Amino acid sequence: LPGSSVRLVEVGPRDGLQNEPGTIPTAVKLSLIERLADAGLTWIEATAFVSPKWVPQMADHGEIMTALAPRPGVRYPVLAPNLKGLEAAVAAGARDVAVFAAASESFSRKNINCGIDDSLDRFAPVMERARALDIPVRGYVSCTLGCPYEGEIPPEAVARVAARLHAMGCHEISLGDTIGTGTPLKARRMVERVAEVVPMAQLAAHFHDTYGQALANLYAVMELGIRTIDASVAGLGGCPYARGASGNVATEDVVYMLHGMGIDTGVDLAALVETAHWICGQLGRPVNSRVARAMAPC
Ligand code: HMG
Ligand code: MG
Repeated sequence: LPGSSVRLVEVGPRDGLQNEPGTIPTAVKLSLIERLADAGLTWIEATAFVSPKWVPQMADHGEIMTALAPRPGVRYPVLAPNLKGLEAAVAAGARDVAVFAAASESFSRKNINCGIDDSLDRFAPVMERARALDIPVRGYVSCTLGCPYEGEIPPEAVARVAARLHAMGCHEISLGDTIGTGTPLKARRMVERVAEVVPMAQLAAHFHDTYGQALANLYAVMELGIRTIDASVAGLGGCPYARGASGNVATEDVVYMLHGMGIDTGVDLAALVETAHWICGQLGRPVNSRVARAMAPC
């Protein structure tokens, strides 16, 4: 591992904020994205082109994408669950999108109002249109290490959905531990099984930290070869359709661990910690991540 590098996908502005109860001004979201880019993050999931009735916090998706000034070397992927979302995203300037499926039938129905196979069928026209527009599509699989409704999810079920998304043309498959119930050996077994059907270099780990296992799980799957990690500044987040789901693993916790192991991320940890404090101040809540607390400005 030392001497290698990891690509971080910052999901704070989307996964981190989608579940916030209060209104967050669009200007605050934009400032967050700019600060994250200033700190050296180069993949920043900016918003979600989903139905505002389902996720009101992402209703300003068009304004966010339109206002974001392009920055060399920085990409702003967005969620697009259907053609309507894709068209709106592209019209607002998005150049990278993500579709999201689940390894659990019940979660799929709660989250996107259709079963797994239906959801994959619905993604087909999104993939086709994105290909025509030369827009790369990432594919998420939720509930890879447990489901709030069904409990244990077999690695086989994750591999099936991941393989379908990959075959449909997703350039990367992000494996979500949506409710953070995974532990390292389970995470290993799941990734080993998925890597039989999707090349390891095209897999990403998207682990929530509900049970405090995310860093351990990340280390376990990095040993297998995972080099793309999703994280959220200040550990913000949670999924509106996964009861009890708390935030993603905090980006600053991941960066601290990686830099400590001699792994490059391109991120300025001090600037990231400052951003974690800043956004928590804006949201009126204490900073939760261990590293941001330890490195709090005096
Ligand atoms: P539906 O109700 O089945 O869709 O929702 P529909 O096609 O019947 O449309 C219903 C209404 O929504 C219509 O409006 C559409 O126009 C509108 P009405 O006629 O009633 O006024 N609509 C849209 N509006 C804006 N943008 C769109 C869009 N599509 C339809 N793209 C749908 C299906 C997928 C749209 C809905 O279920 C939805 O938006 N779900 C979003 C759920 C979500 O965002 N969840 C959180 C993100 S996933 C996550 O957090 C997990 C992840 O982090 C990984 C992990 O941790 O595991 C990625
Ligand atoms: Mg998530």
